[in-house]
Amino acid sequence: MPRYIPPVADHAQTVSASTRLCAVYGFPVRHSASPAMQNAGIAALGLDWRYTAAEVRPEQLAQAIAGAQAMHYVGLNLTVPHKLLALDMVEALDESAREWGAVNTILFEGQTDSGDWRAIHEFETAPEKLRSHGFNTDADGITQSLREDLGMEVRGESILLLGAGGAGRVAALKIAATGVKELFLVNRTASKAEAIATEIRDRFPAVQVNLGYPPAEVDLVLNATSLGLKPGDPLPFDPAAFSLGKSRAVYDMVYRPAETPLLAAATEAGCKTANGLGMLLHQGAKALEIWTGQTAPLEVMRQALKETIYG
Ligand code: ATR
Repeated sequence: MPRYIPPVADHAQTVSASTRLCAVYGFPVRHSASPAMQNAGIAALGLDWRYTAAEVRPEQLAQAIAGAQAMHYVGLNLTVPHKLLALDMVEALDESAREWGAVNTILFEGQTDSGDWRAIHEFETAPEKLRSHGFNTDADGITQSLREDLGMEVRGESILLLGAGGAGRVAALKIAATGVKELFLVNRTASKAEAIATEIRDRFPAVQVNLGYPPAEVDLVLNATSLGLKPGDPLPFDPAAFSLGKSRAVYDMVYRPAETPLLAAATEAGCKTANGLGMLLHQGAKALEIWTGQTAPLEVMRQALKETIYG
């Protein structure tokens, strides 16, 4: 008879009464690679924590945040469609969440006897007063990945940004704040690109922001639309209005598949390319650092992401 072999535990420590939890909330969330990435990071740091995922409907988001807080979760990540909604649901907003107008990371905090707020996992016994503290790590993730994966500094460069949804808006604002010289915005729904252009002109007047395709060469084309995710998706730009040969580099926020049709066309046109895996990694690493106060084990997390997404 075959001998029963228990599954190998990924973590040195098994779940116990002192195990702390964190989670990502999304709708849908089933394909999220965050649990694999974060649990690898947590294990490498030797923490007795676990990171799970929950499919939370937008109308139950406030309840789900309050529930995690009451159960002394370390923190949460939020993904589509929760990032904007959560702005009004957390009790404290970090400058990052205020500046980029979205929350993708929550740290639960308790109040000490002297009145200041500390991460809840630092308390031996449950503090009486708790609060949720919202952060945004997406914006930094974008510029860090552009630097690491493409060697782009953004400052002084010219960029064509495709897409003006949630991800496109944060990317546009962060790029503007980093000192891009000229930014071209293109989106299927023109009014959304116009709204972002207005916001940039107001907040970052030194940036030359234009609607439509660039007439001359640019340093980077950045895809922030969801086109490329599904097989058979068209390219996220109009080939009659713009050619990839006019750009030095192309970054696609889509990372599944690893080579989107946009990236394949960009390679053919001689551009340097990168997909959005680095962005996912850096926003997650930053979240782990907010929760733990420690430096995130980047390479371990990167490896876990690659294995989960690409096999
Ligand atoms: P996210 O939070 O990931 O940015 P989103 O806010 O739904 O998601 O934005 C999706 C982006 O992809 C938008 O720029 C969207 O264009 P619209 O603003 O016109 O909706 C773009 N997009 C999605 N499907 C598209 C399609 N079939 N053709 C062109 N653009 C598309």
